Amino acid sequence: MQVIPAISELRQRLRGETSISFVPTMGNLHGGHLDLVRIARKHGKCVVVSIFVNSLQFGANEDFGKYPRTLQADCEKLEQCGVDVVFTPTELELYPQPQLVTVEPPLENDLCGAFRPGHFRGVATVVLKLFNIVQPHSAVFGRKDCQQLYAVRQMVSQLNLPVEIIGGDTVREPDGLALSSRNQYLSTDERTRAVFLYQTLAGMRQAVLDGTKDFVALERQAVQELTARGWQVDYVAVRARNSLTLPQSGESDLVILAAARLGQTRLIDNLEVCI
Ligand code: PAF
Repeated sequence: MQVIPAISELRQRLRGETSISFVPTMGNLHGGHLDLVRIARKHGKCVVVSIFVNSLQFGANEDFGKYPRTLQADCEKLEQCGVDVVFTPTELELYPQPQLVTVEPPLENDLCGAFRPGHFRGVATVVLKLFNIVQPHSAVFGRKDCQQLYAVRQMVSQLNLPVEIIGGDTVREPDGLALSSRNQYLSTDERTRAVFLYQTLAGMRQAVLDGTKDFVALERQAVQELTARGWQVDYVAVRARNSLTLPQSGESDLVILAAARLGQTRLIDNLEVCI
């Protein structure tokens, strides 16, 4: 496995590769990321993983500064997973000048976008830059970041990028909590309570499967329950799975998404439901 921080060297290494599968990450890798790497291995002969904590997608009061950076441990895990190349650019390598040309994906101001202004612009912009640098044939993103996956798919489709986008299922702890690098911010007590986000979504999914059609009431009840247990809720939303817009009546392919804060830690999760 080669660890390459420079764009020019990476381009040289990847020249002539006929089947590159790419997993962009911000490092601090957990089982969810390693699952994406396994999926990438099935889709490409050469697997490239990037590790870059992208300042452009963090708001001024967010956790860019304290985001865990664990490069050595990450590289050991990736080596064991049979990754070919790890791209580890510095801030200066990727953003030598202020990034004036950016990509604004749809739903930039909806769901998580409403609470993290500029976040999806930052994500789409760095993903497009990484695609241009790595030139992968396929790229794998986690379905836990449902809105991110949607934004990337829309960007690829609307800008005619020659990349196949693959979604990897959410990996969960035994109690149901979705794996996330941010779980490690939770105190022991918060970690025990964190599963309630998943349980709330699971309860909503069951209600939808049981025939509940009043999604607004369902969302309101979920917000009340989470709030009563000490969460600060950004949103709980039932949306059409393929467009993330409000479901039309009779819509059968749905996704239930939520973002909420437990103490200082903001967690997101979602569950798909087909009725
Ligand atoms: O999901 C992430 O880790 C990041 O948003 C991504 C896709 C690597 C872009 O920085």
